[in-house]
Amino acid sequence: MPGTLILGIESSCDETSAAVVRDGREVLSNVVASQLIHSNYGGVVPELASREHLRAIVPIVREAMQLAGVQYSDLAAVAVTEGPGLAGALLVGITFAKALAFGADLPLIAVNHLEGHIHAVLMNNAFDEASPLLALVVSGGHTHLYLATRTPEQTGVPSGRSLPAGVETWHYRNVGKTLDDAAGEAYDKVAKLLGLPYPGGPWMDALATHGTADRNLFPFTQIKHKATGNFAPKLSREAALLPGEDSTRFDLSFSGIKTAVRRYVELHHMREGIEARSIALRAANLLHAKPSTPETLAATLTHFDNETLNLIASFQNAVVKNLARATFNAAEHFGARGILVSGGVAANSHLRFIFINCASYAKLPIAFPSIALSTDNAAMIAAAAWPKFLARHFAPDTLEPTPQLRLG
Ligand code: KG4
Ligand code: ZN
Repeated sequence: MPGTLILGIESSCDETSAAVVRDGREVLSNVVASQLIHSNYGGVVPELASREHLRAIVPIVREAMQLAGVQYSDLAAVAVTEGPGLAGALLVGITFAKALAFGADLPLIAVNHLEGHIHAVLMNNAFDEASPLLALVVSGGHTHLYLATRTPEQTGVPSGRSLPAGVETWHYRNVGKTLDDAAGEAYDKVAKLLGLPYPGGPWMDALATHGTADRNLFPFTQIKHKATGNFAPKLSREAALLPGEDSTRFDLSFSGIKTAVRRYVELHHMREGIEARSIALRAANLLHAKPSTPETLAATLTHFDNETLNLIASFQNAVVKNLARATFNAAEHFGARGILVSGGVAANSHLRFIFINCASYAKLPIAFPSIALSTDNAAMIAAAAWPKFLARHFAPDTLEPTPQLRLG
């Protein structure tokens, strides 16, 4: 089979995924098994996640290979998520990938999950030569702003080697992050508070379109500052700058909005209504369903009053506006030539609408992954592995999970 085929494996949180990608761009298969079990608990339970990954990994990899119509002997490498993520969950993917690479005599490539999310967009080559880009990675576990710069000097490529034309390596610098909850985490917690199943983001997205946002309900919590190293202990690690590099940061915070929703619920005596709704949704067997069909959404909507729908719309509006403000302020400050948004929350319809409007106002190109590649998947891991494969950046067979792995 022509081209270079990489098998990607992702197991950092609650999705077990395997994908075969040709030349870092063409997705031949991308199989994702989402662990529904966590919806019983209102959030991901790490032990259960590891167990579900163990159950799913063999059939999911097999299915990805079959759908792509390839044999292990057709592959050029196996790529796997090294971190960040849940230690036990990562361990399942890494152990399987190591065994497979050893058995099939293939090189192993370690991929940072956050770089994977960025490659879910870069693999579609939406930016021509534009650089630097401002990349927002916004998901259930992460909310990071990166200044992503093309590195034509091919940093990190062993001497004597050069990458083929059209293959780029990227350098990432973290220029902002949430100081507390990730945006997706805030979505999930507020959804849980309102009696919705986990993950709540897709539900909140679908329900918000039926409410009217009150723009004054939730405060803006934009935190622009110079990284001094003494602002907050966590920041000093991010502030490892090259001499002369601009240290301005565009950090975010979502716990204030989440707490404000909780206070609103108390002050407006909404608790009883939420309890009653939870019971009714469970009785109607709607608590596990995704709002994927108009019928499911219509059935769910009958259990919501206007006050709650307006609250959901107001929350969503505040989260998205905060994200947009930090992203476009950072883009302007650092002279970014394009905007890239990725991660589970990038699937949000209001976020896409607002970001596209802001980008058009700022005259900047903007790109998102397809909805399927926004949330966790292995195609993005195989895509991010492609430049590493060409540069012969292979992982040692002692590779272990790095739960707190950073990017930039
Ligand atoms: O990228 P992802 O699959 O996993 C992590 O790396 O965290 O993101 C999952 C997160 C969850 O918090 C989920 O509620 C959120 O993405 N999410 C959404 C939407 N779809 C998924 N949040 C808001 N609107 C959506 N449409
Ligand atoms: Zn993710």
